Amino acid sequence: MTTLINRQYYLDSRPEGLPTAANVPYRDVPVADPADGDVVLKNLYISLDPAIRGWMGDDPNYIEPIALGDPVRSTVIGRVVKSASPDFAVGDVAQVMGGWETYTTVPAAMCAKLDESAGIPLSLFLGVLGPTGLTAYFGLLEVGRPRPGETVLVSAAAGAVGSIVGQIAKMQGCRVVGMAGSDDKCAWLKNELGFDEVINYRTCGDYQAAIRAACPEGVDVYFDNVGGEILDAALMCLNKYARVAVCGWISTYNVPDAPGPKNLWQLVAESITVQGFVVIDYMDRFEEGIAQLAAWVLAGELQFREEVVDGLDDILPTFLRLFDGSNRGKLVVRIPE
Ligand SMILES: NC(=O)c1ccc[n+]([C@@H]2O[C@H](COP(=O)([O-])OP(=O)(O)OC[C@H]3O[C@@H](n4cnc5c(N)ncnc54)[C@H](OP(=O)(O)O)[C@@H]3O)[C@@H](O)[C@H]2O)c1
Repeated sequence: MTTLINRQYYLDSRPEGLPTAANVPYRDVPVADPADGDVVLKNLYISLDPAIRGWMGDDPNYIEPIALGDPVRSTVIGRVVKSASPDFAVGDVAQVMGGWETYTTVPAAMCAKLDESAGIPLSLFLGVLGPTGLTAYFGLLEVGRPRPGETVLVSAAAGAVGSIVGQIAKMQGCRVVGMAGSDDKCAWLKNELGFDEVINYRTCGDYQAAIRAACPEGVDVYFDNVGGEILDAALMCLNKYARVAVCGWISTYNVPDAPGPKNLWQLVAESITVQGFVVIDYMDRFEEGIAQLAAWVLAGELQFREEVVDGLDDILPTFLRLFDGSNRGKLVVRIPE
């Protein structure tokens, strides 16, 4: 029987700034037979998420840093090619925290089985029907708590999470303003997703002035995907009792010693609530969230964009596109079967 060879992109050193090929080289290793209770997955889709950059560092985070020498960690969807578990047969499809590699070996107990029979493209379980959609759903509704008639401001609004946040906010009867990094993205938000107003933060000049102009009645909910100067500007535009849902701070991930926000006094001045969250806080409600997201997608009420890039060879440069804004929606690597 031929030995399976696993190509792995692994963390050799912790990046300072943007990760390089020296930080994340690859190696080819044989795939061992699974130990009792384990399965071997041939990965089909690898999710690329900004959070992975955080796990490459060793600052405290919501999960352990990636250990040096380990494959870069990502959520993957793969087909079982070897099983030493009664719960998974060869041919089953599973979703699990795996790595930037062709084969992932994990305990079956950590895997969620996916049903291919419904005909839903598997990559959607990494995007709108997976962690991305759930982040938008719970982050907006449970942390942002928007009420009809309120103004919701979203940053990285044309991204995987942000584009869903804005559409759910519209469904709540809110006025929705999105910030994104190109005219093309802004046009998509306004013309196709129904955002009320958009700001191209790369060309708008003064952020505060641009937010005030786009939100003449102030901001009640700020869904923060970026942190940095945009957060500071948004803080100055918040209404009394506004809520800030802190989802991510992508503008700081590749900036060692990035300065913190300066305008926190506004929390006192306007009795503002700021709450960070991670999607796994809502793990016990994922079923509810996925059912609602799927119902909206099926009804044509929720649009999404995903960009599927073929092959593992360019996974690092593909990942880096999250940080220059060239991705169009949820970024996924596909490894053809
Ligand atoms: N809390 C959670 O559980 C959770 C879960 C998933 C994601 N997140 C966070 O949500 C945010 C969005 O993630 P995503 O997966 O949806 O990625 P994404 O928005 O699809 O892609 C990242 C986008 O961020 C924007 N961006 C990159 N660098 C920026 C900078 N310096 N300043 C402003 N914008 C910048 C770019 O869009 P532009 O062209 O508009 O600049 C880029 O396309 C990230 O902060 C991520 O860490 C949090």
